[in-house]
Amino acid sequence: MLPEFSSKAFLAPMAGVSDPALRLQCKQMGAGLVVTEFTNIHSIIAKENQLKENKKTIQEFLEYSEQERPLSVQLFGSNLEALEKAAKIVEPFFDIIDYNMGCPAPHVTQQMAGGALLQESNLTKQIFSTLVNAVKKPVTLKIRLGVTEASRYLFKDVAQIAEDEGIEMITLHPRTVSQGYSGNADWKMIKDLKEISKIPIVGNGDITTPEDAKKMIDETNCDYVMIGRGAMGNPFLFEQINDFLKTGTYQEYSFRDKLDSFFEYMQLSKNYKIKFANIKGQAMRFTKGISGGAKIRSKITFTKNIEELERVMTEAYR
Ligand SMILES: Cc1cc2nc3c(=O)[nH]c(=O)nc-3n(C[C@H](O)[C@H](O)[C@H](O)COP(=O)(O)O)c2cc1C
Repeated sequence: MLPEFSSKAFLAPMAGVSDPALRLQCKQMGAGLVVTEFTNIHSIIAKENQLKENKKTIQEFLEYSEQERPLSVQLFGSNLEALEKAAKIVEPFFDIIDYNMGCPAPHVTQQMAGGALLQESNLTKQIFSTLVNAVKKPVTLKIRLGVTEASRYLFKDVAQIAEDEGIEMITLHPRTVSQGYSGNADWKMIKDLKEISKIPIVGNGDITTPEDAKKMIDETNCDYVMIGRGAMGNPFLFEQINDFLKTGTYQEYSFRDKLDSFFEYMQLSKNYKIKFANIKGQAMRFTKGISGGAKIRSKITFTKNIEELERVMTEAYR
């Protein structure tokens, strides 16, 4: 059974972005659910073997904090044996196991994983039943529409198979795999999916403001909304969406608030093994839209360690 969610707004899984520090910030600002970056099932198995030798658990590899709960872990990879093994390894630590069937990156689709699976109905059926039978925790799914324009309605069949096999919630990012991030997310497809589904549907794609979130809910009747790029460097969005849905208004945040929020992120990041390149990426995003941001970002590019980055970001207050 799915856990209870405190908000209708979820943080999307984003490789290199939805690290445990950003997730915690978004959670503290009111996100109803946060999801880890997608993780290769083979890496989980290999890491677990290494860690076991040192009497450590997979938490060293898939880092998180208790305050993030309910917490979803996203897996990708289609080898059924490995999938079962990886799901059992992560199950004790997470509240939801999410499966990625949307990633358009060639290094993922070429190994018959991510979005490429949308056209493999036999294999996807096996994947869903393997996952659902491997664990007692709820299994959820994240998909795109289809692979190409010609197969843009595949999601309906996949969703039906998923529901039949016991998947408990589906997130739809209504673009095709070949579309990448071009064009607009076709929210009408979320409405169509909601109409044919008995399980909760999470709408995703192109939400950057509280008004967008309300519009998607009103237009599609989706149960929850998931936000990716709009929440990058902007954890305030969750509080704003929650307030807007409840009261019709929300608080604006200033340039200084954004910088403060980045320093908070940097502080939190020290508790985890987050790559410096990723922290730098977050700095770029937290300075988006602020006055003099371009100048600050060009300085961020040249920083080589946390101390240098802290110096540049402190200068940004002036
Ligand atoms: C940098 C980046 C990394 C992403 N990584 C993942 C991922 O690991 N797993 C996943 O299911 N989707 C991933 N996505 C897709 C997002 O979860 C989301 O579906 C997509 O960005 C559309 O939502 P948005 O318009 O709110 O950004 C990623 C997107 C971006 C921009």
